[in-house]
Amino acid sequence: MLTGKTVIVGISGGIAAYKTCEIVRGLKKEGAEVFCVMTVSAQKFVSPLTFRTLSGNPVITDLFDEDLNNTPVPHIALREKADLVLVAPATANIIGKTANGLADDALSTLLLSVKCPVIFAPAMNPVMWENKVVRQNSKKIQKLGIKLIGPVYGEVACGEEGTGRMAEVSSVIDAVFDLLNHKNDLSGLKILITAGATREAIDPIRFISNRSSGKMGFALAHAAKRRGAEVTLISGPTYLNPPANVNLIEVTSAEEMHKAVQAAAQKQDVIIMTAAVADYRPNFTFMQKLQKRADTMSLELTRTVDILEELGKSKNGSFLVGFAAESNNLIENAREKMKKKNLDLIVANNVEAFEEDCSEVFILDKAGEVEQLPLQEKISTANSILDRIVTRVSPSRKDRA
Ligand code: CTP
Repeated sequence: MLTGKTVIVGISGGIAAYKTCEIVRGLKKEGAEVFCVMTVSAQKFVSPLTFRTLSGNPVITDLFDEDLNNTPVPHIALREKADLVLVAPATANIIGKTANGLADDALSTLLLSVKCPVIFAPAMNPVMWENKVVRQNSKKIQKLGIKLIGPVYGEVACGEEGTGRMAEVSSVIDAVFDLLNHKNDLSGLKILITAGATREAIDPIRFISNRSSGKMGFALAHAAKRRGAEVTLISGPTYLNPPANVNLIEVTSAEEMHKAVQAAAQKQDVIIMTAAVADYRPNFTFMQKLQKRADTMSLELTRTVDILEELGKSKNGSFLVGFAAESNNLIENAREKMKKKNLDLIVANNVEAFEEDCSEVFILDKAGEVEQLPLQEKISTANSILDRIVTRVSPSRKDRA
């Protein structure tokens, strides 16, 4: 979604600079062209080579040494390219210099010469952040039009606790999106997304589950949030970082997911069930750990509620999207599930996409249309699915939003 955009990432001297590596990776992954500008202190924390490798572009470390695209004035060359400048981490020093118009190195000079939107992600010791001069300077740069993201409360590198940590990587990337990407087409819509696998307990340490990682559901939540939706994400256990500013409800079993969906479903405009809900659970859960005794053992299983089917039966106008993971007869099975569960759209993918970062899916709608999306990162698949939903959601729902 950032294809065709150029982001200049300024890195000043703070330990949070290591997180900026992830920010640069994230921006590149979204298709942005990234150029990095580092202060002398920043280079003490992370090597310019790291940012050169991650961004795929030369790193500006000195106003006079580096020669970007054969121009002797790199900050002007970068100004021409920049759609947005992000300074992360932004130290008290770069905030102070910017507030007072000082330009004594590549980053501060660039900041005086750009006309595009600028975001600062401050990071410093909490006492420094509370310092009166730093407060004044940060207010001043905000008045000048610079957007601040963070700092946030938590433990900082020196072990102290307070407000001073750089905002989370995903929040910083989201802030870049908000400023660069004006596609706010889901604004006001309430979207419920389920993700991941459920776990059905056998005893205190064993469970029945499946290989679903939750990546597709989390990508959808991320993309929907970025496009302005109010997102509720109900997820089984995962190792993924949840997107910022979504209402995350963590569940374990199919029964818990069922209850959480029931509680949230009424208010939703769109419900997307990506979760790989267990179809069966053990008849009962042993309170104590099972000891091995006989050579064989059997477990009796009971069907869980089909959450999506239940939603389809009592549809109250929300747009219902299901997922079908199949190992064979992909389209036929998906079509049958769409009909049986009374869905508006179904996304069919091969079980091979489980745990992968990329997927290649088919989208089927009620009118019988079948569309194949290319093999792509799940975040791109998520955006394509949302594109298809937004054109089909009833106009009254969007108007109300
Ligand atoms: N689903 C659900 N509740 C269940 C099982 C599945 O809501 N107990 C939802 C999934 O989230 C998905 C869709 O139903 O959106 C299809 O799930 P899938 O497991 O592929 O199909 P099933 O209907 O369970 O059929 P089968 O396992 O026989 O293929």
